[in-house]
Amino acid sequence: TSLRELAKKKNLLIGTSLRHWPFTREHKYREILYREFNTITIENAMKIENIHPQPDHYNFSESDLLVDFASDHQMKVRGHTLVWDKGLPTWITEGKYSKEETKRILKEHIQMIVSHYKGKVFAWDVVNEAFHDDGTYRDNFWFRSIGPEYIELAFRWAHEADPDALLFYNDYNNEGSNAKSDTIYQMISDFKKRGVPIHGVGFQLHTAIDQKPDLKAISKNMKRLADLNIQVHITELDVKVNKKQAATKEAWDQQAEIYGDLLKTCLSASNCKAFIMWGFTDRHSWLEEYSPLIFDKNYNPKPAYQKLIDILSQS
Ligand code: G3I
Repeated sequence: TSLRELAKKKNLLIGTSLRHWPFTREHKYREILYREFNTITIENAMKIENIHPQPDHYNFSESDLLVDFASDHQMKVRGHTLVWDKGLPTWITEGKYSKEETKRILKEHIQMIVSHYKGKVFAWDVVNEAFHDDGTYRDNFWFRSIGPEYIELAFRWAHEADPDALLFYNDYNNEGSNAKSDTIYQMISDFKKRGVPIHGVGFQLHTAIDQKPDLKAISKNMKRLADLNIQVHITELDVKVNKKQAATKEAWDQQAEIYGDLLKTCLSASNCKAFIMWGFTDRHSWLEEYSPLIFDKNYNPKPAYQKLIDILSQS
């Protein structure tokens, strides 16, 4: 059996991010990818520095390859990410644009990409990491140029380009009960009241075996979002094990425990629809020195993989 087969019975999207370069080279990578997962998130290829490198030039080549690969294997695609502050090309940051010009640039960026993938990308991380952990707005390029309304404008523009796509706000340290998750909850509650199109929140959940997530707080947070008719996707799960910890066998059991706890928490929430990891093999993780994923560098399943299988096998 496989995660993909078992997840189907639970109506759960289970997936991984796809780093553009490794998959095209490795048979083993591709084999596990479409045996075990039904959803992928494009890790980097749709980020502005890659997809919109010059004002009048969009480069869809990498992301088209990945989107087509996914649909060839009946996998759903999450688009990542339309608005972020990392990796902005200099034609944006050094453009000295007026507020109106910046709005026009961002609107075109969003609508060119969302319409290009209309019907192929079912969910978008529209805005990524807009708040500090204390709940205040990050003073990023878009905030400085447009003001806090850049967030709602991004959702409205994305919805105009593809009314069928699910639109997510994505962040980290936003899964539990804290100033950031409260601010996000307030923002979404306000958006809902004013008819701003938003459908879900992404909990990135980059964590570690010595940062056990507060499962009760996560369940409570998922519940209050469900009351707003908002979905939750676990979007970027990885569980770091540092070099010292990796010397002990129990580290891998602790890692498995956390993956399992979060899957159980997602399965028991009415509105948690996706369980996406930020890669699946330690061979290609953004955190390669922390062995954070469910397959090791040689594509052998780790205890965490077996734990997910066991949980999905329970009725
Ligand atoms: O592909 C190029 C390669 O050709 C070049 O030789 C190399 C050195 O410059 O860079 C390679 O691109 C790198 C890319 O990862 C692929 O490995 C970029 O420099 C590097 O900036 C990029 O980092 C990504 C990072 O986001 C910044 O975009 C990570 O892979 C990616 O895992 C990470 O993911 C983020 C999410 O998007 C948002 N949430 C946090 C998460 C972790 O930071």
